[in-house]
Amino acid sequence: MTAFLFVTDLDNTLVGDDHALKELKQRLSEHRQEYGTKIVYATGRSRSIYHDLKREKQLLNPDALIAAVGTEIYDEDGQETPDPAWSEKLSHGWDRDLIVATAAHYSDLVAQPDSEQRPFKVSYYLTEDASTEVLPRLKSLLVERGLDVKLIYSGSKDLDVLPRNADKGLAVQFLKQKWGFDSTQTVVCGDSGNDIALFSVGEERGIIVGNARPELRHWYEENLADYRYMAQAYCAGGILEGLHHFGFLNT
Ligand code: GLC
Ligand code: MG
Repeated sequence: MTAFLFVTDLDNTLVGDDHALKELKQRLSEHRQEYGTKIVYATGRSRSIYHDLKREKQLLNPDALIAAVGTEIYDEDGQETPDPAWSEKLSHGWDRDLIVATAAHYSDLVAQPDSEQRPFKVSYYLTEDASTEVLPRLKSLLVERGLDVKLIYSGSKDLDVLPRNADKGLAVQFLKQKWGFDSTQTVVCGDSGNDIALFSVGEERGIIVGNARPELRHWYEENLADYRYMAQAYCAGGILEGLHHFGFLNT
């Protein structure tokens, strides 16, 4: 066994089955102690509501935190300000006020709470019914105004507007390079739309948990590869299943 880089989404991926989570935490913590495996959380949550979940579920301290859908990287869990080199990469051509003003044209877009509005992330609630019309229109109006942004729709309800150079997958590449892990030594886990980038940016070993949302499931079926695994089990149980499948755990 050797060290690997373990990256996981939180809601409905790492968290969701308390019993399996307990076992996974123990396995990961042992692996980190024995081999130097690194643990990274890649969440859509802002750092503040991530800490609520961490406390509630007594999650392990990660070696780094990717928050706000990959727009913020905290090199250590307790760190107050995100990695400035990463923020700098995202700032080019980003005009938050113009995005907010543009989105205001669509009454179906309902702003998420203030805690989830971040320097490089503008987030709304949007129903699935409204999304088919609103998403393409919003996209073209943003382009018309010279805004080269990324729209990520997850869980049939959340819309995130991000800088072109930001998503969970790109943030993982940043950490891989920093720590010197290659794709065969990196495993990424997720369940929904904002996790697709985890699986699509590079060729990391990918675990899609059994309870994955339709948007990720469809993407997986259209992009089959032997380095991606669709688990049967849900949440942390699916992660354990996938870690065995790829040989990261062998007992
Ligand atoms: C988390 C965030 C929210 C985001 C969603 C999907 O729930 O709190 O702001 O829209 O993830 O990425
Ligand atoms: Mg999730």
